[in-house]
Amino acid sequence: MISKNTIDKVFEIARVEEVIGEFLSLKKSGSNFKGLSPFSQERTPSFMVSPVKQIWKDFSSGKGGNVVAFLMEHEHFTYPEAIKFLANKYNIEIEESEINDKDRENRDHIESLYLQNNFAQKHFSKNIWETIEGKSLGLSYFKERGFSEETIRLFGLGYALEKKDDLFKTAKKEGYSDQFLDETGLVIYNDRGSIDRFRGRVVFPIRSMAGRIQGFGGRILSSDTKTAKYLNSPESKIYNKSKILYGIYEAKKEIAKEDVCYLVEGYTDVIQMYQKGIKNIVSSSGTALTIEQIQLIRRLTSNIIVLFDGDAAGLRAALRGIDIILSEGLNVKICSFPEGDDPDSFALNNNFYDIKNYIVEKSKDFIEFKTDLLIKEGSNDPIKKAATVRDIVQSIEKIPDPIKQEIYLRQCANQMQISEEVVFNSFAQEKNKVISKRKLKLNKEYISQKKITKQNPDNPLLNIEKQIISILILYGNDEAFFDETLIFSDAKGNLKEQSKTVQTRVFEKIFLDLQQDEIEMIQPEFQLLYNQLIDLFQREGKIEADKIVIQEQNPKIGKLLTDILLDFEKHQLHDWNKKNIFVKDRKSVVGQLVSETILTFRKYLVDQKIQKILEVAQKKQKDYNSVVFLEEIIQYQNLKKVLSKKLNRVL
Ligand code: CTP
Ligand code: MN
Repeated sequence: MISKNTIDKVFEIARVEEVIGEFLSLKKSGSNFKGLSPFSQERTPSFMVSPVKQIWKDFSSGKGGNVVAFLMEHEHFTYPEAIKFLANKYNIEIEESEINDKDRENRDHIESLYLQNNFAQKHFSKNIWETIEGKSLGLSYFKERGFSEETIRLFGLGYALEKKDDLFKTAKKEGYSDQFLDETGLVIYNDRGSIDRFRGRVVFPIRSMAGRIQGFGGRILSSDTKTAKYLNSPESKIYNKSKILYGIYEAKKEIAKEDVCYLVEGYTDVIQMYQKGIKNIVSSSGTALTIEQIQLIRRLTSNIIVLFDGDAAGLRAALRGIDIILSEGLNVKICSFPEGDDPDSFALNNNFYDIKNYIVEKSKDFIEFKTDLLIKEGSNDPIKKAATVRDIVQSIEKIPDPIKQEIYLRQCANQMQISEEVVFNSFAQEKNKVISKRKLKLNKEYISQKKITKQNPDNPLLNIEKQIISILILYGNDEAFFDETLIFSDAKGNLKEQSKTVQTRVFEKIFLDLQQDEIEMIQPEFQLLYNQLIDLFQREGKIEADKIVIQEQNPKIGKLLTDILLDFEKHQLHDWNKKNIFVKDRKSVVGQLVSETILTFRKYLVDQKIQKILEVAQKKQKDYNSVVFLEEIIQYQNLKKVLSKKLNRVL
């Protein structure tokens, strides 16, 4: 955990205009800086940075906040990552605050495993460049496959000698312990002693998003079918097969820049493509794609193109991946290679432009892809056609965004050449099936609920403030779906919108959205509590409301918390469910509740802002620069328009 002291120092020293200036081009405008919004396509700049207030505001998307909020929005950093980035930029030493013994032990343990792997990677690398066996077998193997020396170094590839205990002996000599050699799986211990896991293989280190070595894959050199072609590190505290994506460290910048991630199956596919300049590429390492892997990608982009081998096994793998990508709210396309080719061989035999063109031209969205499969079978069989429609509709059901669903349903009808009515009916049936399953679960959840007391309807702002606190406490740590509606003005000044669904944790959403208005709650207890909660989430990632109640010194806040915990329990969701207004899953419902609350709150806040500006303007009367005030008011009124529009979408 980063200490409060360090965080304070970072905020003290970091200059929002300097940091943002690294990412956008800013022009001085009065006491502010102006630039084109990086969050929407616009021609007239509405992105403002205030060096005086140390905040930024993007009037076209409604986003804004302090320097950390900018890094979180723009670079997809988590809060600690943003702080670390700034500390690094401004040469601030990072202090870790007190952690308990168990956490420290755990952290040290993990650190030791990484150190062990780091040593092994260096060792394998040394073998391939400096030993006779490594050069003649390992290096030449990679060269035969077309990898350049530069590529081999970039991916940290290496070679494990044939010897039984080369790594073991070297590691022991350098003081590494059996415990970590064992836990990383680099050495296998049995009753007869110990033996290196990787022997006579070329070795691919597998790096985390942050560049740390989580494990290794080792490939045999021959095409001998008796031994497994690849041998991988065993599961450990730092190597979890379902959470790794080979190449993510090398690819992450390019994925964010290109706003699309290519997904392949093998290590060599990644490397060969990368060498040809296609750098936004990762591999699921031959396993079925998992939610955790998609969540890693989601930090960088919401678009995935699955590139798969032109054989039956490749096809099956691609098909499996589609639904899971869709259900995480990401967009997916599929691109198959000619029969007999895989991404590796295709990349080896083509140049950058041909590969790029091929992918652009051959990528199909999942509906086209599934439709084409049927056509390829040359089948006119109505039963098969119905099955394909059902298959497509089932995939569409997985998409969290209803607007996207509708678009795809129409496209399905169009491509399968059947009426929209049939498709929508089939969709309704599919949905009913899923809903009745979900209802059962929901009912169980709600049966245990207490009677709900009505809120005090006196001051709407008070209620919203309370609601925000309640949401933080009850759902703060939940992941929820949010429709991010980007609203921008076209050349004629009309408001246009574009929406995409993103999954975020509730407290992050609230933090990012409310920062923008430098919130000040009218009830000081709420403000205090709000600050505390956000602080806790950012430092610890979760809160236990009961614990805060017990620890709370201020009796007023203690009572408030108890009230919330006892009375407020999920009443919003409960009501909605009863009225049957929605039929979406929990993530969408929580997302909707949160969005609605935040937007309503922000509308009030913006009203207050306008009011204040007017008051100041009136007081200063004679000498104020009317243009500046006017511009500010217009900007805020535009923001209000944006908020109203978003609110209409949510409701
Ligand atoms: N894989 C594995 N263990 C195996 C076979 C495969 O872990 N016994 C994983 C590896 O991550 C491999 C991926 O599945 O990269 C894809 O398998 P495959 O296509 O067979 O391997 P390639 O990477 O294409 O390797 P090569 O081109 O060297 O045959
Ligand atoms: Mn291959």
